[in-house]
Amino acid sequence: MAKINTKVTDQTDFFQGNDPKALAEKYGTPLYVYNERILRERCRDIKNLVTYPNFSVNYSTKANNNLAFLEIVQEEGLNVDAMSPGEAHLEMMAGFRPEQIFYISNNVSKDEMQYFIDHNIIMSVDSLSQLEQYGQLNPGGKIAARFNGGVGAGHHEKVVTAGKKTKFGINPEYIPEFKEILKKYALKLVGINQHIGSLFMDGDKYIEGVKAILEIAKQFDDLEFVDFGGGFGIPYKKLEDQARLDIADMGEKLSKVMFDFAEEYGKQITFKVEPGRYISAECSVLLGTVHSIKQNNIHKFAGTDIGFNVLIRPAMYDSHHDIEVYNNADETEEITVVGNICESGDIIAHDRVLPKMTEGDVIGVLDAGAYGYSMSSNYNCRLRPAEVLIRENGDVVLTRKRDTFEDLTRNLISIKK
Ligand code: LLP
Repeated sequence: MAKINTKVTDQTDFFQGNDPKALAEKYGTPLYVYNERILRERCRDIKNLVTYPNFSVNYSTKANNNLAFLEIVQEEGLNVDAMSPGEAHLEMMAGFRPEQIFYISNNVSKDEMQYFIDHNIIMSVDSLSQLEQYGQLNPGGKIAARFNGGVGAGHHEKVVTAGKKTKFGINPEYIPEFKEILKKYALKLVGINQHIGSLFMDGDKYIEGVKAILEIAKQFDDLEFVDFGGGFGIPYKKLEDQARLDIADMGEKLSKVMFDFAEEYGKQITFKVEPGRYISAECSVLLGTVHSIKQNNIHKFAGTDIGFNVLIRPAMYDSHHDIEVYNNADETEEITVVGNICESGDIIAHDRVLPKMTEGDVIGVLDAGAYGYSMSSNYNCRLRPAEVLIRENGDVVLTRKRDTFEDLTRNLISIKK
């Protein structure tokens, strides 16, 4: 049987000849390592999802906002969504033009709306109350709106964003009032959007959501686009050979729904999808160092420098990430892998069977590229990690420096005279 130590990264040739221990030594840990080839492959998977001609893949920057990463996504011909002026600012820095950005707002100030009006970026409103405010600011303008089609899905209740329990979207029962407000301010509704939630592995759930939003779309004349949202899942349990999302099957079904809708609507409108995780998760491994091994009562712990300030998903959603251990151990043992933050919830992996570790070993947390760095923090005054990119030719380049003490203190103002 192949050793599990490096099984997944060997299969994908993730390090392309680079030794993860040497990368850890050169750049320090924790370290987010990205693979450009895999990133480009994922962009192309989704770009080629459907045969319908007017199709836009809007990468969801919230999953990973590294500038070099966005530059690659831009080169691959994807568009983007933005959740804030900050994201739009970064996207424009990466080379996206305003018309390639779709701003999806949620409970925002008029100043924030004005930023997008000034930059000619189409925005989507999330309530009648926000539509009214937008109308006051930009009468006669173009607008999109997020609807709740009633179908939700996701890996955790915190990330289900449609259905009965969520704060997102406008319920279809309010469409008459919605139309009144459009009329009052002479607004042109150019598109509607939804996002059912994050991480589905069953494409049929997404298609169900697509059909629901298209029923809503039929109630508006002359739309330019309908955006189905993101949520495309990736297999986090690769060591257990978890199956991939069948995007070929999904693509076929989606294409049919799109062509059918266009025929009925009488116009080949644009359809958009908004994947974040699918594009960004699998092209990254988070490297860390084991600093201690200890037995506390029933648990054996490997203490590493990967605290939840660096990767919060396991602590926040009980998410599973496979772990590799870059040593030559043949033996395995059951161990709990933890970080260096002063909270008991600072656990990366519970009771996992892993190659036997010793102090100084380098480990890799797999599929760390989505909601990894982008949700990292300076909690415990820890420095956020560096990020490096393995180029297609195997060269490694630094794309984000590790924080310094100066970064930690730059906005602080002392009151001591
Ligand atoms: N569009 C909208 C409006 C969204 O709110 C999201 C994600 C996406 C697209 C992209 O979803 P994706 O394709 O990445 O599933 N932090 C959580 C995930 C939160 C997702 C929030 N919204 C996690 O680490 O699992």
